[in-house]
Amino acid sequence: MKKYIYDRFEFTKKYHGEVVEFIKHNTNVEIGGYRIFDGIGTHLMQSPYEFADFIFALKKYEKDSGKKLRRFLDVGFSAGINNTLINKFFNFEEIVALDIFAAQINGFTLKGNLTHKNLTLVCGDSTSQRVLNIVKALGTYDFIFIDANHTYEFVKKDFENYKTFLNKGGVIGFHDVDCPDWPGINKFWNELKATGLYHQQEFVCRDYLLQYGIGMLTLKS
Ligand SMILES: C[S@@+](CC[C@H](N)C(=O)[O-])C[C@H]1O[C@@H](n2cnc3c(N)ncnc32)[C@H](O)[C@@H]1O
Repeated sequence: MKKYIYDRFEFTKKYHGEVVEFIKHNTNVEIGGYRIFDGIGTHLMQSPYEFADFIFALKKYEKDSGKKLRRFLDVGFSAGINNTLINKFFNFEEIVALDIFAAQINGFTLKGNLTHKNLTLVCGDSTSQRVLNIVKALGTYDFIFIDANHTYEFVKKDFENYKTFLNKGGVIGFHDVDCPDWPGINKFWNELKATGLYHQQEFVCRDYLLQYGIGMLTLKS
């Protein structure tokens, strides 16, 4: 049987192109994909170019550091489509995801994206002490993706709270670091740069109506 695209990984231009193509089939035209908006929230909320570059950077980080990203904390699960896609490439041993479920979510998509994963889903406000206690009790994490409340105050709180649960050599991803709709995230991202404490890379595609910008941060040792 032919293997799935995510069952292998190659640091080649050709394979990168295949990954972009794969993501394009899952996302909407406004972000650079092939799908039209269907109103039921079944699409991936990622730019194919930004997301492929981010996956490649995470894989390179694993290769260079010799550290496998095993435990994933997803702050802002939504219907879990991004969670599923990234899990396909990294096959996490453990995923903890949280969400307040404020966004419009299609129940079938949500159900589909809850299955076939090593996932614990926590329902509640990411900044609440109750949620923080649960996430802490569930362990520490190699990879944390912050994509919950998109205001400056919340993103700052999420970063400050959840970075304390990051394993040594772990990675924090931020969604929307260069999104005109959410200037507070860009502001916070730039403030982090000004501290000089972190290695920061960003992946931004400005060719379509919508752009998000994905930030990748690791601690300087
Ligand atoms: C842009 S969506 C996340 C998309 C998801 N990461 C993906 O790519 O499929 C933002 C999510 O954050 C959730 N959210 C907003 N404020 C939150 C909060 N304070 N705590 C937890 N989740 C929150 C919303 O319910 C929504 O599902």
